[in-house]
Amino acid sequence: MSVIFIGSDHAGVRIRTLLADTLQAEGHEIHVFGPAEGEKSDYPEAARAVCSRVLATPDSFGILVCGTGIGMSMAANRLPGIRAALCSSEFHAKACREHNNANVLCLGERVTGPGLALAITKVFFSTDFEGGRHQRRVQMFDNGLN
Ligand code: RB5
Repeated sequence: MSVIFIGSDHAGVRIRTLLADTLQAEGHEIHVFGPAEGEKSDYPEAARAVCSRVLATPDSFGILVCGTGIGMSMAANRLPGIRAALCSSEFHAKACREHNNANVLCLGERVTGPGLALAITKVFFSTDFEGGRHQRRVQMFDNGLN
């Protein structure tokens, strides 16, 4: 089981709530950030709240949901040590864990329906990083080589 920080802006509240409830029922430790249903908010705030906690909590993960997932992934990847992956398929979810050691999953509620969002999340949290040549490549992110 994992510690998972999950946040959204106003455009991602429904998927955020669905995933938080589902993952909590599965036994993960869930911490939720972002507005209540009907409130407006700016996505960089939730991205910062989630990612700062992921960086401060060993072996934890983040999930960020906005309308497209694009703003959240852009904001999240500004923080060194965050490897945020915008996923719209189960293949993305598998590959971003195996090859990129993604530690933050980004989803777009206006793009990805609830069933697919759940399926993507399930794959993300049941897939391990492969290491090896991928470890060398991921390390290059922080070596100024990307
Ligand atoms: C909010 O309208 C929308 O811009 C936001 O949720 C996100 O899609 C930005 O990338």
